[in-house]
Amino acid sequence: MTDYRQAQRRLRDHLAAVGALQDPAWARCHDAVPRHLFIPETIWTDRGDGYYVPVSRSDDPDLWLDACYSDHFLVTQVDDGAPAGPDGTGDVLTSSASMPSMVFGMLHHLDVGDGMRVLEVGTATGYNAALLCCRVGDGNVTTVEIDAGLAADGLANLAAAGFFPQVITGDGADGYPGAAPFDRVIATCSVRDVPYSWVAQTRPGGVIVVPWHTTYAEGGALARLTVSPDGTASGPLVGPAAFMTLRAQRLAPVDVHRDVHDEDQAEDSATKLSPRVAAFEEDAEFAIGLLVNARQYIGRSDPASEEFTLWLLDSASGSWAAADYVPGTDVFEVSQHGPRRLWDEVEAACRWWDGAGRPALTRFGLTVGADGDQAVWLDSPDHVLRHA
Ligand SMILES: C[S@@+](CC[C@H](N)C(=O)[O-])C[C@H]1O[C@@H](n2cnc3c(N)ncnc32)[C@H](O)[C@@H]1O
Repeated sequence: MTDYRQAQRRLRDHLAAVGALQDPAWARCHDAVPRHLFIPETIWTDRGDGYYVPVSRSDDPDLWLDACYSDHFLVTQVDDGAPAGPDGTGDVLTSSASMPSMVFGMLHHLDVGDGMRVLEVGTATGYNAALLCCRVGDGNVTTVEIDAGLAADGLANLAAAGFFPQVITGDGADGYPGAAPFDRVIATCSVRDVPYSWVAQTRPGGVIVVPWHTTYAEGGALARLTVSPDGTASGPLVGPAAFMTLRAQRLAPVDVHRDVHDEDQAEDSATKLSPRVAAFEEDAEFAIGLLVNARQYIGRSDPASEEFTLWLLDSASGSWAAADYVPGTDVFEVSQHGPRRLWDEVEAACRWWDGAGRPALTRFGLTVGADGDQAVWLDSPDHVLRHA
């Protein structure tokens, strides 16, 4: 196998070039914590049709090492460890080693100082916990992982690399009162509702960094919240972030066959809003998700074609909508059914977003109240858009 140090240097140069590794303290820890020590023998790669296939270190050590030092997230577990797809393939991604530029970007926003006490939620491979140990010392790091097998692997990886934080198997949604209060909390799984225990266990002035998303899109934003003495936490969304969801907040996979019914009774219309904007334009998609409580699903009858249908689903009210994207046109067909007119809601959300000057997701912010109530705001905490 090729010497890892060359690959590690290449990754460090890349991270510095994209601005993810500006703080010399984190650059030192990048060099002190070889990522490959945390990557399991088998990682899972997308075979191109949505199913994940295993790639093992023994089959191709150089490819495996390259992957360890690439700026990509590496899938380390599918289907909670019991691959559910055909022929041993996996369907749902349930753990990974996060993308290095995201790891160091989040650590930058965490703004960790010497000797701070840090809680990490989502140990997985242990790589991020090792970086935290390198920065603040083993005794100041507590990391919680809900999956017992992953927690054991993470602990073993950490010990083999020479790091000894407190690794807890448990539900990180509860924080870890035994080691509180914390100066910093970092979640490496995504939430729609920030668990209040994280706020309660962070000292006033402390910071919580957490990926946050809406029901509409799993891709969301990184929230950086500062805890106040009155028991609230508030702060801006600092950039895009897509993570696996905190286990208790996972949604069941979208089921178009179950939720789309009475197609012959649907109301047909035409729209000038491109389904591409509603589904793929990051800031528009984020704003729609803030205002429209529905799931989305992209359906393609021909994977090679650019054509797709954007399905919008709300199983609670029995409402659905479908908008067909065809390249080269500027009017698109829409069908809607049920008590909610979901496409009309998406259009209204886009009109609002346009009228507000098409705000990027970094103009939004989040406040968690002392009662756990969560408010999303635009530009200032006084300008609340929705309570969630
Ligand atoms: C993207 S991985 C974390 C990457 C990790 N920090 C690393 O450096 O390898 C997300 C992890 O969060 C874990 N997780 C999900 N829900 C959790 C919960 N409620 N408490 C603790 N861990 C949780 C998952 O099992 C998964 O291992």
